Amino acid sequence: MQERPIRVGIIGPTGYAGMELIRIVIGHPHLELTYLAGSGNHSGTLAEVFPHFAHVAGPDIVTFDADVCAQACDLAFVALPSGESGKVAVELWRRGVRTVDLSGDLRLPSDVYQTWYGKEPLPDDVIQEAVYGLSEFNRSRIAAANLISNPGCYATAAILALKPIVSWSEARIQGPVAIDAKSGVTGAGRGLKSHLLFAELANDFYPYRVGSHQHTPEIEQALSHECTVLLTTQLLPVMRGILTSSYVTLSGDVRAEEIQGHYESFYQDEPFVHVLPYGQVPHMKSVVGTNHVQIGVHLNERTGILQVFSVIDNLGKGASGQAVQNVNIAYGFAETTGLTQEALWT
Ligand SMILES: NC(=O)c1ccc[n+]([C@@H]2O[C@H](COP(=O)([O-])OP(=O)(O)OC[C@H]3O[C@@H](n4cnc5c(N)ncnc54)[C@H](OP(=O)(O)O)[C@@H]3O)[C@@H](O)[C@H]2O)c1
Repeated sequence: MQERPIRVGIIGPTGYAGMELIRIVIGHPHLELTYLAGSGNHSGTLAEVFPHFAHVAGPDIVTFDADVCAQACDLAFVALPSGESGKVAVELWRRGVRTVDLSGDLRLPSDVYQTWYGKEPLPDDVIQEAVYGLSEFNRSRIAAANLISNPGCYATAAILALKPIVSWSEARIQGPVAIDAKSGVTGAGRGLKSHLLFAELANDFYPYRVGSHQHTPEIEQALSHECTVLLTTQLLPVMRGILTSSYVTLSGDVRAEEIQGHYESFYQDEPFVHVLPYGQVPHMKSVVGTNHVQIGVHLNERTGILQVFSVIDNLGKGASGQAVQNVNIAYGFAETTGLTQEALWT
């Protein structure tokens, strides 16, 4: 545990994940914002760029320079678009900065990345240096890591919902697991896209990237390839939040109470993962603005299908909250430090 605050840089502070990182870091007792940098398109003081941070003392937002960043920071969060983000994260890590990358660039082997992201991958020897930061399942490796690959938002919600059942020797899963996932529009980033304009998005609801969403292999990898998943992603006309509904066909005669008991004991020591009483379903509003996850299970005895529902905030546990949770693990702070915000609900 170190005495002086950790000097923090955020690369991509004008994106949605970066903005959320600023919000969390300024409330964290052991972190101090010392560097903010992006593409140079939105430079200036915090007050000039963000009216809601006008009262916050912090560094100006400048054009990114790896050497300047390495001088100014002990720790960097890199929240740039995939394809750019991993390269920048590796540049900083090579300069001795402890780095958390929020993109998909360091999560998958290079051939799988190329197939699902359609972008030039980083070399496998570099990717293998990055520790996958799904906090609940990788604490000892995260604690020792200098390069952390933060999980995807849909992936986080789906893996946390499915890990208990997929890894349970009592359950026999038949066939692929269907994951029906819905996200608020901040999941698509802040760049201008016509289909994300208010008049296009409001009052509408539809699936996208059917059969090809890049979080599919990340989920299967994190579930140790114990099952194949069919992920359907949909865009909700709300700002934040993800709801996943997973359908798992079970054979054998595991009873609903046993499954519920297993989920409860699986997550009983987790400060951020909450299994609801049997029969209750999670609401997105319960977790928006927080790092919390809520999970509800229901065994449909007529069909033998287990339904598992999970909710997260895509910018909280799905991105910036989990990134800070990983930093808390890496520096030996209490895992909830700086992450105690409760949901607004209304
Ligand atoms: N949004 C989510 O819910 C979410 C969840 C999990 C993970 N992620 C991941 O987090 C990363 C950021 O996502 P986001 O939604 O925050 O994206 P975003 O809103 O589109 O923001 C992207 C940021 O990257 C900066 N940028 C773009 N190209 C750059 C370059 N060449 N050099 C330096 N800065 C550059 C932009 O800066 P300027 O404003 O200066 O152009 C902006 O600050 C992505 O990899 C995404 O997959 C996002």
